[in-house]
Amino acid sequence: MKIGAPKESAADEARVAMTPQSAKDLQKLGYACLIEKGAGLAAGFDDAAYKAAGVSVVSGAALWRESDVVAKVRPPSTTEAKKLKDGQTLISFFYPASNEKLMETAKSQGANVIAMDMVPRISRAQKMDALSSMANIAGYRAVIEAGNNFGRFFTGQVTAAGKVPPAKVLVVGAGVAGLAAVGTATSLGAITYAFDVRPEVAEQIESMGAEFVYLDFDEDQTDGAATGGYAAPSSPEFRDAQLAKFREIAPEVDIVITTALIPNRDAPVLWTKDMVEMMKPGSVIVDLAAERGGNCELTVKDEKIVTDNGVTIVGYTDFPSRMATQSSLLYSTNIRHMMTDLTPEKDGQVVHDMEDDVIRGATVTHKGEITWPPPPPKTQAIAAQPAKEKPKELTPEEKRAAEVAAFKKETQTQVGLLAIGGALILAVGLIAPASFMQHFIVFVLSVFVGFQVIWNVSHSLHTPLMAVTNAISSIIILGALMQVGSHSVLITILAALGILMASVNIFGGFLVTRRMLAMFQKS
Ligand code: NAI
Repeated sequence: MKIGAPKESAADEARVAMTPQSAKDLQKLGYACLIEKGAGLAAGFDDAAYKAAGVSVVSGAALWRESDVVAKVRPPSTTEAKKLKDGQTLISFFYPASNEKLMETAKSQGANVIAMDMVPRISRAQKMDALSSMANIAGYRAVIEAGNNFGRFFTGQVTAAGKVPPAKVLVVGAGVAGLAAVGTATSLGAITYAFDVRPEVAEQIESMGAEFVYLDFDEDQTDGAATGGYAAPSSPEFRDAQLAKFREIAPEVDIVITTALIPNRDAPVLWTKDMVEMMKPGSVIVDLAAERGGNCELTVKDEKIVTDNGVTIVGYTDFPSRMATQSSLLYSTNIRHMMTDLTPEKDGQVVHDMEDDVIRGATVTHKGEITWPPPPPKTQAIAAQPAKEKPKELTPEEKRAAEVAAFKKETQTQVGLLAIGGALILAVGLIAPASFMQHFIVFVLSVFVGFQVIWNVSHSLHTPLMAVTNAISSIIILGALMQVGSHSVLITILAALGILMASVNIFGGFLVTRRMLAMFQKS
């Protein structure tokens, strides 16, 4: 079978669905590859590169006519949809919820359409998740775009010419795009804050070096498992608390990147006009949700505006296309993985298996039928998190009783251990000589004391503590000092070595402790 990628017909669309690299991989699956003349130019791939990868460069008309599978980025235009043939497979973004007419056309043409935006968010399908790979690029690019419109450094600096404070970036919505924005902003040195309605992302945000903006609000949010990996709408009270928090931080932040969206809904307005007015002149807002109305009240879709108080608001909806080489590489890889799923025998023959969760979920029309919306996937998006049981509040009497019981139990264990230890020592004393017993008792006592010293120390302090106690325990140095004047050369050498090692241990221990403590001290 032949797979072909046409030149994108949408104005300003620079991406392409097949790259020379993905074409090589598709050929390994048994397909012959076609590309429309000049289709990859805007993404940095010329026709010669495709030819070198074994791809036939053809005219647009020939491509639609000859391809069994057409791979595209944007949904087909009406003209393109009419070129679809019976039995032909189209793989592209399709947005079926808002493209019913297009779906009808594809159905009447008899084409099987796989919508890349409908790939379910389950682990196995991550490699085909084009929405995520594009959102990742959009998040990265949003920060770069913000930097381009922001008159200062991201990172704080102390220079001869003066001190520069770091920029403060707030990312609203920590999905794929949001997390990419958080990663980029922190790596550029900005102080980054992030907010999301899903509290479970807080850990992820914090592990990336950003701060999660917590709300003083008690609401159980869905964990995303039941909603295909997406958030559920929040209550009006929650939204009020959220807006109040944003109002509090608006005068502080320099850059706001909004990515909050619940699929198939208009973007919630989270950054209102008064918040924009509170921001400092020169601040920047990049609204990734502009396509669906925007998270910022003042966003103008596809445009960059500057408000009266000097705040720049960027509402572009084509961030992935602005990084066309990178996005074409990732998108074509997503398509190639989809083709791998569609070609189980690697024999260049498409097997459209409607029992496969991923293929079924993404298929919009099949064999002259509209198959959208799909049934929910058999595999859950994210394993549902078991509800954590809150510990029961104890009354003061119950607490006291619990403490007494714990103390009794501990005392019993200790007395038991002492009795066993005493019996063992007595047993050894019956057969061992007196000089051995003297040393043995000292040894047992030091083990006991050492254990008691360390046992209750918090784990995080173990390493510095060990460094110091090792040094203290280098009592060995005393023994070595006593022996160093011995008549035997061997003993003298051993004792000298002992002194040397123990000294290294003592001074090294203190040095290591100092260095470790310095790590926790603010400069
Ligand atoms: P996603 O679904 O992974 O992330 C959206 C996040 O917003 C989720 O974590 C969700 O919990 C959060 N959210 C929803 N409602 C919220 C609220 N009221 N407050 C705070 N957080 C809320 O989506 P993804 O893939 O990260 O995309 C984010 C946005 O970026 C989408 O609007 C998408 O259309 C857009 N996008 C824009 C592009 C552009 O060129 N402008 C390109 C690619 C994506």
